[in-house]
Amino acid sequence: MKIVVAALKGGVGKTTTSIYLAALATAARKDVLVVDADPQGSAADWIESAEDPALERVALAEAPTERLLAKALAGATPEQVVVVDSPPGNERIIGHALEQADVVVIPTRVGGVEWPRVDVVRRMIPRRTPFGLAICSARTFTRDYAETVQYWADHGVEVWGTIPERVSVAAGPDRFLSEDGLDAYRPLWRTVLRRAD
Ligand SMILES: Nc1ncnc2c1ncn2[C@@H]1O[C@H](COP(=O)(O)OP(=O)(O)OP(=O)(O)O)[C@@H](O)[C@H]1O
Ligand SMILES: [Mg+2]
Repeated sequence: MKIVVAALKGGVGKTTTSIYLAALATAARKDVLVVDADPQGSAADWIESAEDPALERVALAEAPTERLLAKALAGATPEQVVVVDSPPGNERIIGHALEQADVVVIPTRVGGVEWPRVDVVRRMIPRRTPFGLAICSARTFTRDYAETVQYWADHGVEVWGTIPERVSVAAGPDRFLSEDGLDAYRPLWRTVLRRAD
């Protein structure tokens, strides 16, 4: 199963989402490969430097070019859960990843400025590939959040998960993945599993 986590915008939560999904897939006894298609290598750093048992068994492929991405995806086994973390702004590499995806997660944030940016990614996804949004770092008690959820419902776009804004979720490789974060990402993971079938 190839899960592509994609957004054109920077800093929306792609890497955090990729890492938590990888950890949840591992916890579900899957054989997990994270493909880091971002030359910044944030997901790779996180996996390599974390001493977190939740990430211990996660395999890593660094694939910052189209060629390396194609190679990493071709090398994945059919049983593996592959999570692709993508670079911001690189339409070519994101497009390539999206073409190979079994399921796509688009991390986004609350607020109207994000809507057209999501639409650009959405239009790049092959017609039959299921996709859904992960609303990251959300202040779920705000009107902005309620409006964002309503907007996507009105436009027939599925929201598969909402991750509340929490310092613990954002701690990065210096700390273990937070229970809060794992709980918040679990409904997204379950939906991804269901929709990828
Ligand atoms: N649920 C959350 N609560 C609080 N902060 C968060 C949350 N999710 C992500 N962040 C923070 O937001 C920032 C961007 O997250 P992340 O690195 O996952 O985004 P990205 O889309 O991968 O960014 P880039 O485009 O640079 O690769 C980071 O500082 C991260 O710690
Ligand atoms: Mg990133």
